[in-house]
Parts: sequence; structure tokens; C-alpha cells
Amino acid sequence: MAAILTIIYLLASITFIIGLKMLAHPARARRGNLIAAAGMAAAIAGTIFLYKDEEGNFLQNYTWIFGGLIIGGIAGTVAARKVKMTAMPEMVSIFNGMGGACAALISVVEFGHLMDGLQSVPGLTAIDITFQAGLRQQLLIILAGLVIGSISFAGSMIAWGKLNGKIRDFIFTGQHIFNIVLLLVIFFMALYLVGWLPASGVLLFYIILGLSLLYGVFFVMPIGGADMPVVISLLNSFTGVAAACGGFLYNNKAMLTGGILVGAAGTLLTILMCKAMNRSLLNVLIGSFGTGHKGAAGAKAEGGAAYKEISLSDAAMVMNYAHKVIIVPGYGLAVAQAQHTCHELEKLLESKGVEVTYAIHPVAGRMPGHMNVLLAEADVSYDKLQEMEQANNDFPSTDVVLILGANDVVNPAAKNDPASPIYGMPILDVELAKTVIVNKRSMKPGYAGIENDLFFQPKASMLFGDAKKVLQDLISELKEL
Ligand code: TAP
Repeated sequence: MAAILTIIYLLASITFIIGLKMLAHPARARRGNLIAAAGMAAAIAGTIFLYKDEEGNFLQNYTWIFGGLIIGGIAGTVAARKVKMTAMPEMVSIFNGMGGACAALISVVEFGHLMDGLQSVPGLTAIDITFQAGLRQQLLIILAGLVIGSISFAGSMIAWGKLNGKIRDFIFTGQHIFNIVLLLVIFFMALYLVGWLPASGVLLFYIILGLSLLYGVFFVMPIGGADMPVVISLLNSFTGVAAACGGFLYNNKAMLTGGILVGAAGTLLTILMCKAMNRSLLNVLIGSFGTGHKGAAGAKAEGGAAYKEISLSDAAMVMNYAHKVIIVPGYGLAVAQAQHTCHELEKLLESKGVEVTYAIHPVAGRMPGHMNVLLAEADVSYDKLQEMEQANNDFPSTDVVLILGANDVVNPAAKNDPASPIYGMPILDVELAKTVIVNKRSMKPGYAGIENDLFFQPKASMLFGDAKKVLQDLISELKEL
């Protein structure tokens, strides 16, 4: 039985790796997700029905296990089916927080078992026990899972609250120093507990739990609401590490592999997101991005530089007679839920002999792959999606660039304004095309809180309005031509 379970865990670990690999391409992502989910289901079923403890007993508390599975399964399915594309980071945050909470709860339960074990060994004092390396190691893993899991849980809940606007940014003078001191206090308390196992061990354990939850709250509170996707990715890697601690504790290979993969993937994703925004992780954690800083472009706009507008009929005309159109989707397209209408416009233009592709910036939208998923939902063909480098090569031979609810990812300040907070971020060089049409609702800035010089360039024209409505009207105009 144990051998079968080991094989199941091995196969589950392989499905996690294959699944992750397949997630790297939109065409295979859905299948990759299903394969990894099947592996996870097999690992869970194997644990429930095949696992035996040291005395040879199967698991017993089936009511609790299936109760939890049913409630959690229904809640997760309903939430995943109902969630809007723009609220996806919020959902990831809640799910991640639940993972952190599970890891912390495992530590609470296992600490209880460890304490029971201590009391039931007659003649051994707590001090004697601490010298048994195995137990000390176990306690260390329990505490690591507790601290990392509770930070991830509390931090994710705050991130969720910030994303849906229920919690505001909060910072007090010296908060970063306070956070560092708090983390050090947690670290030394945990070290003291492992090293000396004092009589007040249980109390200390729960104080560490409380302080870790508090640290999770204070860690995320001062970070700008708009930086939450990066923070969620970081907290996701914490949850992975906390789950891996559980894998160590139970000597469960699937849990260990799964935890390590989540930890590594979360860390890599965090680094990639920071790189694509040309910001260091430290700057994300202690800087306050998107709080209204204005670079040189903003100053110029305030100085009265003029932008020009284009009418719907003119925009339709320009696109109708173009050979090549590149659409640049951004966060606004997701807000407007205009992906299907956008696909309709693409098909209509193609039926008129216009070549249409999409330029996808790596951090367009609010989460990695946001635009890919959005366009895939509308059945836009994957070969129409161009990555940034490829699109930048194509812009000079493009007649019209249609920007739909994108702003920072096309802001030339990233290239020519060293004072700008996005300076150095790679952007889409849309101004290399012959004509640029920008659709957004107003002249308000995007995520970075800075104005965009592009809108004031002679090649650019503003087409104001909600992306969905504008696209519907453009389609009607084009049909008349
Ligand atoms: P943004 O710079 O945020 O610009 C989006 C624009 O969409 C806004 O200027 C807004 O202008 C417009 N908009 C909003 N609702 C609209 C609607 N219904 N119809 C039409 N337009 C609408 O978005 P972006 O260019 O996609 O850039 C993404 C930003 O998010 C980057 O700064 C990036 O660093 C950051 N970020 C991304 C990620 C990932 S991984 N994707 C993670 C963290 C941060 P109006 O209000 O005037 O309409």
C-alpha cells in the first residue's frame, strides 16, 4: 500500500511540473492546469484512502475530511465561475491566503501533537527532549510553517481588501523600521523556543502566531494598492514555502514538491514582474507607486500642451484604408469587458483585407498574462498575439496603432524622462507607426499616476469613451463604409 502511495505521489509531482511547463503557452495552459489538477486530485485521494500511520491505521476522521472537501470544493467552484476578469488578482489573493492559513493550521495541530508527546514520556524533562535533534528539527519546521503561513494569510487578506477598495493604504512614521524590528522579535522568539523549549513554550508559540499575523498586516499595509499584484505573487511564494514545511513534517513528497514549485514559481514571477516594470523588489515593498507622482511629461501637459481628438467616422475611415493595424490592449479593455467586441472589429477589418495583430506588453493589465487570457476568452487566435520585441520591430511598417485602455505601457517617458517613475521600463514603441489612435475615457493617468506625452504628439489622436461602446460604434461605422 505504501509503495502504491509513493508512486501516486511521484506521478502527482510529475503532473505538477508538466502542468507548470504547459502554463507557459496560452494554447496549452488550460490543458496544463487540468493535468496538474488531476495529479493533485490523485494525491489527495491516495492520502485519504491509502495512507496508514505508524501503527498501521488508515485515516479516521472522514466526516471532517469530506465535509471540508465538499464545502471548499463548492465555494471554490462557485467563486471561480463567478469571478470577473478584472477581479482575478483579488481571487488569487484569497486562495493564496487560504493556503497560508492551512500551512499555519498544520503547524498549530502538529505543535499540539509534539507537546502531547512530550508530556507522555515519563521521566523526560522538556530540557532533555530539546537535546533530541529530531524533535528540535521538527519544532523548527513547525515554527517555519507557522510564521511564513500566517504572514502569507494575513498579508493576502489585506491585499484582497486593498484590491477591492475595502482597505486603504496605511503607513505611520518609522513603519518600515517597526516592521524590521517585529520580524526580528519573531525570529529570536522562535529561535529561543527551539533552542531552550522553556516551560512557557505553549504561550510563546501562540505569541509568535499572533505577532506573525500582525507582521503580515503591517507588511502589506504601506504598499501602494496598485502594487498588490507583485505583493500577491510574493505572498504566493511564501505560501509555497509554508506548504513545503508541511511536506517535510509529514514526509509527504507530493506536498513537498508542490510547495517548492509554488515557492519557486512565485519568486520567479515576482522577479519577472519587477523587471518588466524596471523596479526593484525593495522599491515595490517600501516605495509608494501610483500615488500621483508627475514626471516631465505631466509638467508639460499641465503647461497647456494640446492633444487632438478624432471622430468615430474618421477613425473608422483611417482603419478601413490601412494595410496593417496593430491593436494595443491594456487594463481599460479588461475594465470595459470589450474583448469580444474587439475580436469582432478585428474580424471585420480582416474581411476588408486589413492585416490585424495585437501587441502584448508583459505587464499590460494588472496581472501576468492578463491580456492573453482576456483575448483568449474572446477566441482571438494565438498567432495574432505579438510579444513586445516582435511588435516593436513591426510598428515602423504599421499604418494604424489602436490603443484600447492602455497607458503606461505606451508612455515614452519610460525612454526619455529620467525623472519619471517608469523610466527604464521597456515599452511598446507605438509612435513609430504612421498613425496612433488612443481610446480611453479621459486624460486621467493610468496605474503609475503619471501623464503620457504620447497623447500630445502630432501622430496621436484621442478617441474618448468606454472601450466597449467605442468599439461597437467603430464596427457600425466600418460596416457603413
Ligand atoms: P494603465 O496604465 O493602468 O492604463 C489603463 C488606462 O485604461 C487608464 O489610463 C484608463 O484611462 C483607461 N481605462 C479605464 N477604464 C476604461 C474603459 N472602460 N474604457 C477605456 N479606457 C479605460 O494600464 P496598462 O497600460 O495596461 O499598464 C499596466 C500598468 O499596471 C503598468 O504600469 C504596470 O506596471 C502595472 N502593473 C501590471 C502588472 C501586471 S503583471 N500586468 C502588475 C502590477 C502592476 P481613463 O480613466 O481615462 O479611461
